[in-house]
Amino acid sequence: MKKDELQVVFSAEQIQDRVKELGAEISAAYQGKQVVMVCVLKGAFLFFADLVRHIDIDAELDFVRLASYGSGKSRFGKVVFSKDMELPVEDKHIIIVEDIVDTGHSMNYLTEVLSKRGPRSITVCALIDKAERREVPVEVGYSGFPVKEGFLVGYGLDHAEQYRNLDGIYEIVP
Ligand code: IMP
Ligand code: MG
Repeated sequence: MKKDELQVVFSAEQIQDRVKELGAEISAAYQGKQVVMVCVLKGAFLFFADLVRHIDIDAELDFVRLASYGSGKSRFGKVVFSKDMELPVEDKHIIIVEDIVDTGHSMNYLTEVLSKRGPRSITVCALIDKAERREVPVEVGYSGFPVKEGFLVGYGLDHAEQYRNLDGIYEIVP
């Protein structure tokens, strides 16, 4: 297989510093509250694993996986669960932990579905926010890094299931 050329966008150290800050912000905001943190598989798995270790509230943890059908990426595609949550969320505060909010279709779907289960609140925490690419509105309560363009890999993010294990985030050089 031909090797892609990768360019560093966020180093492992930059990511760890930012994740620590996000953990502190979330911990301060949710003191004394009943919280469920939901990891959106697969892309957010490393972000989630690092983030929850900087959370000093008693949060429950759960996982979902979304699948989108349609033309290539999520554009015009329909989003469905390929794995739903297992914990009840009624009267709890949900924090959705996502790798990238891009067009917004995935988070738009997930927040809509979860809002019907009677949670106190739903907040999206995204490591990367490509706000300028939004096609449907999504409010990102906690955003790690704003990014304008480029396809990113590493730290959980993949291209054809490659590069998820890298500890930094890279752009594939076209
Ligand atoms: P959406 O377009 O906001 O629905 O984003 C759908 C998903 O596409 C994100 O959760 C990511 O998993 C994936 N995605 C979007 N941009 C990138 C990227 O630059 N690299 C890897 N995955 C991406
Ligand atoms: Mg994702």
